[in-house]
Amino acid sequence: MQITAKEFQQRRKNLMALMGENSIAILPAAPTRTRNRDVEYPYRQDSDFYYMSGFVEPAAVMVLKPGRAHGEFVMFCRERDPNKEMWDGGIVGPEGVCDQFGADDAFPISDIDEILPGLIEGCDKLFYSMGSNPDFDKQVMEWINVIRSKVRSGAQPPNEFIVLDHFLHDLRLYKSNKEIQIMKKACRITAEAHIAAMKACSVGMMEYQLEGVYLQQFIQQGCRSPAYPSIVGGGANACTLHYIDNNKELIDGDLVLVDAGCEYQYYAGDVTRTYPVNGSYSNEQRALYEIVLEAQFAAIGQVKPGNHWDQPHQAAVEIITQGLLDLGVLKGRLSTLLKKEAYKPFYMHKTGHWLGLDVHDVGEYKVGGEWRMLEPGMTLTVEPGLYIPAQAKGVAKKWQGIGIRIEDNVLVTKEGCELMTDKVPRQIRDIEQLMSK
Ligand code: GLY
Ligand code: MN
Ligand code: MN
Repeated sequence: MQITAKEFQQRRKNLMALMGENSIAILPAAPTRTRNRDVEYPYRQDSDFYYMSGFVEPAAVMVLKPGRAHGEFVMFCRERDPNKEMWDGGIVGPEGVCDQFGADDAFPISDIDEILPGLIEGCDKLFYSMGSNPDFDKQVMEWINVIRSKVRSGAQPPNEFIVLDHFLHDLRLYKSNKEIQIMKKACRITAEAHIAAMKACSVGMMEYQLEGVYLQQFIQQGCRSPAYPSIVGGGANACTLHYIDNNKELIDGDLVLVDAGCEYQYYAGDVTRTYPVNGSYSNEQRALYEIVLEAQFAAIGQVKPGNHWDQPHQAAVEIITQGLLDLGVLKGRLSTLLKKEAYKPFYMHKTGHWLGLDVHDVGEYKVGGEWRMLEPGMTLTVEPGLYIPAQAKGVAKKWQGIGIRIEDNVLVTKEGCELMTDKVPRQIRDIEQLMSK
């Protein structure tokens, strides 16, 4: 199950059609990053670069120049080097990039300063992802200055510098059938890891040991990495939204919130479940959990073509506010509390985000100042939560220190939406039953 060379080619065509004539786009590969002396972080290609090429090596720059007589797709990449390859593994090399990745022309990356200004020269519009990588910004300006230094000899630098993201990210927002297949597999693996972890969870385990169950499942099923650092928060740690220390013991009577998803073939799963360490929810945990679950159902019900991006969130905050009113955590009239966003101390994030090659995937949420309409082929998370910190002021003690999030991944379809992570139980009785096995 892989994106085909033909699909990568189609993506380049689609982007070039949007760029128009007399233009050029430049995309750099992700840089390598040092972890500590002589040790690098595992390399992960930049998602835009991967989306357009499928090429996963560092030290590369791809260039798209619609209508170029000698070929529209040019790649600069590392040259083959038997000595380096003996240590670090194979390098595809310029020839390989043409044969295997459909480049029309490829050159050693060491020649880029000599060749690229010549490719840019004469183009009206230069597209690149301005401002996201200061080193690359500087490099682009150096190439432009090479052209500017030759204007008296007739060289023409571009007049327009255009942020590539708007065009490229709009393409990435609509998933193809193949992307959806891959994402469904990422969702299935993620779901199975949550199931395995619910079964393995026990009192006295360390949070990182529970994390280990997820990582083991991901790797076992062909993912070399999670899509983001897993959040495993026992008890009140669940109220720290980006808690990744994962170094505390799981306590009898507490819940544990786990936000973990695999990366499969570069695509992310992103699922959260909140389950009782000892296998049974207390009455207070149950009461809060049921509110979040109802909010999630209401939000998912709003994911359909014709609705806009914020409708699921509005549905979720209404249920959450009503729920907090019913429990006596909030007091007043529902409409006033909604207007005042009184839920925010306990529900401070939005109900979802786009999902794809990046866990917080690209794509604009507003178009022309209005919330974007949902359309078939878009993929997103639906993830309401409730977080009552340990020292929450004015809240009865019995609710304090409970954090809950329920997160699933959905695909917008013609009829409504499809839950891609439905294999992981969400209902209390199903979770308790699974954990009792
Ligand atoms: N895992 C990050 C998020 O849920 O948005
Ligand atoms: Mn998440
Ligand atoms: Mn998420």
